Amino acid sequence: MLPEGESASTGPLTAEEIARYVVTAAVWAPSVHNTQPWRFTADGQQISLYADPGRQLRVADPDGREMMISCGAALFTARLALRSLDLVPETCVLPDPGQPLLVARVSWPRRAARTEFEQQLFGQVRQRRTHRGGFDPAPLPGGLLAGLREGAARYGATLRIIADDGRRAMLAAAVAEAERAQRADSERAAELARWAAAPGSARSDGVPPQSYPARAEHTSPDFPGRDYAHGHGWGLPPLSTAPWPRSAGIVALLTTTGDRPANWVNAGQGLQQILLIAAAFGAAVALHTQPLESARLRESIRTRLADGAYPQLVLRFGTVIQAEASIRRPPDDVLSASGSDDSDTGGR
Ligand SMILES: Cc1cc2nc3c(=O)[nH]c(=O)nc-3n(C[C@H](O)[C@H](O)[C@H](O)COP(=O)(O)O)c2cc1C
Repeated sequence: MLPEGESASTGPLTAEEIARYVVTAAVWAPSVHNTQPWRFTADGQQISLYADPGRQLRVADPDGREMMISCGAALFTARLALRSLDLVPETCVLPDPGQPLLVARVSWPRRAARTEFEQQLFGQVRQRRTHRGGFDPAPLPGGLLAGLREGAARYGATLRIIADDGRRAMLAAAVAEAERAQRADSERAAELARWAAAPGSARSDGVPPQSYPARAEHTSPDFPGRDYAHGHGWGLPPLSTAPWPRSAGIVALLTTTGDRPANWVNAGQGLQQILLIAAAFGAAVALHTQPLESARLRESIRTRLADGAYPQLVLRFGTVIQAEASIRRPPDDVLSASGSDDSDTGGR
């Protein structure tokens, strides 16, 4: 798949065209509350990816962990876009300790034919959507979980399936406890509301009502979703007539052995690889980071469910017909030439 309006068949692309093609794909990475906390600069055969602190969730994510995971997902997508052009990305993650917002530099010094697998994943970049709700009873496609584990491991992360009923219930209870506390916390609720606009909004960021159910889809055990509609009843009509509670799916934690910005960026790369593999297999994925935004609950999950590794994401995998839609800022809003105004400052 090529991003709309692009064609690789019209002859060799200039470095500028390649950068635009790459960023056009990269913006479709997932990000917390769809904040899209990134910007890119292009300089010849090199793209720099910066975290955008103006889009960081100051209340929910004061350390920028989720911001860096989001940027890692964009980095993976950018690299995959290069592969779709038969270019081999050379990547340096956090190359300059003096510029902590410079997430990565990517260049493309060589060519090599893309693989069928890379092309399949790239084909999912625009199709994949975050799912919010329950799953159908159908099992996951064979071989998927092994592929997902490998995808995470390639980036130094571990996908831990939480299969035991007691441990699933423990994780669900942590999600529910965090969700309750966040709804009752006016500062958190106000921050979430800033990233969840009303129906009909012209915004190109945040979580739109066409991406979550109007009526919470309870699962067993229950993993409550975020309160994007904050009491307005916005959201999609019910998609399924299947009896409730619906399946919570296969529940997993994505963990890392360290908890530094480099671990977060790589967890984001692993996350996007996982999401695209699942999409290529026809599986849907729901994400829950509510309990990981509480130091106490995160520590409890780390010690009780993750063998001391650092939990970065809670995921649920399953099969379901998806109707969610999403939005993104256009590439021109996030890509500038190196040396142009504010392109090299690493922040705003
Ligand atoms: C670090 C991170 C944390 C996220 N946490 C949640 C979450 O707690 N609940 C949720 O429904 N989606 C969560 N998401 C998914 C985003 O809301 C989603 O990627 C964004 O709204 C864009 O939608 P899309 O993934 O369908 O393109 C998270 C994504 C990332 C990268």
